[in-house]
Amino acid sequence: MDNTEFLSSVPIFSELSSNTLQKVSELGSLRSYSKNAVILSEEEDGSALFVIISGKVKVCRTSNDNSSKEVILSILNPSDFFGEMALLDGLNRSASVIAQEDSKLFLIQRNDFLDLLYEHPEVSVALLQELTQRLRAATMKIKALSLKDAEGKVATVLLQLADDVGKIKRGVVEIEKLPFQHELANMAGTSRETISRTLHSFAKKGLVELDGSKLRIISYEKFKELFH
Ligand code: CMP
Repeated sequence: MDNTEFLSSVPIFSELSSNTLQKVSELGSLRSYSKNAVILSEEEDGSALFVIISGKVKVCRTSNDNSSKEVILSILNPSDFFGEMALLDGLNRSASVIAQEDSKLFLIQRNDFLDLLYEHPEVSVALLQELTQRLRAATMKIKALSLKDAEGKVATVLLQLADDVGKIKRGVVEIEKLPFQHELANMAGTSRETISRTLHSFAKKGLVELDGSKLRIISYEKFKELFH
């Protein structure tokens, strides 16, 4: 796939004409990161927007003490973007972004991206829609972290993964590659032991099926109703 073809599959660019996509493709540059590489560090300056061509990244914040505690805010996949916050408000990076797999990224510099937003309001609207979804997800996460018990916290993470990477077929959602248990713990704000115990309890109640790194939510609607 060439860059223009790839860019047309990115939701925020999907309404652009092929000529404009060609221009965007020429404005940007490609960068590769190995698994575990730090792409952005929280609090550093930064002005580029990143779009994931291949691979996977985690967006996280770490505690300021020496406990190296980490909260995973989101996991982003091909066609997702990041780095828009410092680009738009001129402040420091709000979180760190780390490659979870070898990843290839497309970078656009601030002024080029701002020109694109001014000249193509459809990109601005698509960007706002994505930011709105992220705000909704963050609201769900705050609710889960502050108000819910262990089951509620784990279920919220599973529902988030179902929305982000799950495939739905006749009411059953399959998450092909569940993150490792310590990563789920960092996403849910709980311990690895709680994740293990809760997943097994969900399986025992017939709410989910575990099959290696695959997880199925047997009835997405029912699960959502129980834990939303
Ligand atoms: P920026 O602050 O420039 O750098 C870190 C990036 O992580 C940020 O832009 C967003 O793209 C992304 N990010 C920060 N918080 C969240 C969140 N809660 N959900 C998804 N992505 C986020």
